[in-house]
Amino acid sequence: MTALSRPSLDLYDPWADCIRDFGEEYIHGSGIWNITDGVLDPTRDACAFLVEKARQEADLSRPPAEGRVHCDQFWITQDDGVIEVIGFVSFRHSLDNEFLRTEGGHIGYSIRPSYRRQGHASRALGLALERAREIGLDRVLITCDEDNLGSARTIESQGGVFESMCGIKRRYWISL
Ligand SMILES: CC(C)(COP(=O)(O)OP(=O)(O)OC[C@H]1O[C@@H](n2cnc3c(N)ncnc32)[C@H](O)[C@@H]1OP(=O)(O)O)[C@@H](O)C(=O)NCCC(=O)NCCS
Repeated sequence: MTALSRPSLDLYDPWADCIRDFGEEYIHGSGIWNITDGVLDPTRDACAFLVEKARQEADLSRPPAEGRVHCDQFWITQDDGVIEVIGFVSFRHSLDNEFLRTEGGHIGYSIRPSYRRQGHASRALGLALERAREIGLDRVLITCDEDNLGSARTIESQGGVFESMCGIKRRYWISL
């Protein structure tokens, strides 16, 4: 069963296992850009930093940082008796800057390499859409690179309708 969990240090071990699975691949939707442009060393301190950053970005009681928007960061988990972190989803609540409006979109995600092609991304995106409905959005923008067939199919599986290209990005809207 695919679920979305809020980042927590309680999940440090499965989180670190997940990060190691990505190896040198950039991890979309994980929030790691804030501490590294490249490979993340999955230390407890790095995990604690990301947990706190996620808590702050999701905090609706205070305005987002300059140039940023409120964001829900989720760890995609699976519980088969043992909880595993199998990927990441970021849900940005609004498109209040040029980058998000054109290329970034509302939602970014990735699934760890050893768990791909099992339907996790489609189910996780479906769960993120429930959260978007909950905060009152009536549609979301999701983008992917034109050669990312897996991501395009994931978006289409959840009702994505292609609108336009922006450079190499395919832009899709999903009505909620
Ligand atoms: C793209 C990605 C999220 C897909 O995750 P996943 O869990 O394997 O996707 P799913 O199993 O839910 O598959 C969804 C659909 O995509 C298809 N698909 C998945 N990977 C594919 C691939 N590499 N090539 C072709 N089709 C693919 C599946 O067959 C399925 O299609 P269907 O609905 O027609 O059956 C995953 O490959 C990934 O994390 N990639 C790196 C990060 C990334 O590209 N993130 C998106 C940034 S926009």
